[in-house]
Amino acid sequence: MNPISFVRRTALSLIRTDVRRSALLASVVVGAAASSASCSKGGSAAGISPQSMADALHAVMESDRTVYTKNVVNRLQNVENVIKASEHWQDDKALPLPAQMFRMGAEMVSKKDAGFTYALLSEWPVNKQNAPKTDIEKQGLKFIVENPGKNFYGEEELGGQKYFTAVYADKGVAEACIKCHNGHKDSPRKDFKMGDVMGGVVIRIPISS
Ligand code: HEC
Repeated sequence: MNPISFVRRTALSLIRTDVRRSALLASVVVGAAASSASCSKGGSAAGISPQSMADALHAVMESDRTVYTKNVVNRLQNVENVIKASEHWQDDKALPLPAQMFRMGAEMVSKKDAGFTYALLSEWPVNKQNAPKTDIEKQGLKFIVENPGKNFYGEEELGGQKYFTAVYADKGVAEACIKCHNGHKDSPRKDFKMGDVMGGVVIRIPISS
C-alpha cells in the first residue's frame, strides 16, 4: 500500500472508531439518566448497563490483545523471523511486548477522559506498577483464580466517586507466556503452567450513587 492511501485508511478508521465510541458513550449516558429516574439498579432497558459496557470493552481489548500477540508478535518473531519482541523495545529496535502494548493503550485512554479506565494487573506482577491496589482489585483477582470461567463484578468508592469495577481473567494461552514470566528476574512467581490465570484485566466505570 502506498503511504498516502495508508494514511488515509488509518485516518478513516480512527474517525470511525471515534464515532463508534461517542455513540456508545452517549447511550451509556442516556442509560445512566434513565436508571436514576426509575431508580432501577445496574442501568435500564433504555441504555447500556455498566456491566454490558465493561463486557463490550473487554471483548475489544481481548481481541486486540490476541490479534497483536498472534498476528504481529508471534508471526513476525517466531514464524517469519523478521523482528523480535523485547521488553526494551526502543533500545533494541524491537516490537513492544503484548502487555506493554496493552499498557500504552490504557495510559492513553486514561488521559482522554473517555468515561472508563482499564489496566492489566496481577497478584504476581513482573512490573510492580501492575499490582492490585484497591480492595476490589485484590478481591477480583482472587475471584477469577478461584472461579475459572467467571468474571468478577463489584462496586467501590474512590475519592468520593462511585465506580463499577469488572475483572476478567488473563490466561497463559501460549508457552511463551509461561516461559517468559517463569524465567523473568522480576517475576515473583515461577511456577505458572499452561492455562493458568496469570492476571486480570480491570475495567472501571464511574457510576452515580
Ligand atoms: C518475552 C516476555 C513475555 C511474554 C512472552 C509475555 N509476557 Fe506478560 N509481561 C512481561 C513483562 C515484561 C510484563 C510487564 C510489562 C509492563 O511493564 O507493564 C508483563 C506483564 C504481564 C501482565 C501484567 C502483570 C505483570 O506481570 O506485570 C500479565 C497479566 C501478563 N503479562 C500475562 C501474559 C500472558 C497471558 C502472556 C501470553 C499471552 C504473556 N504475558 C506473555 C513479559 C512477557
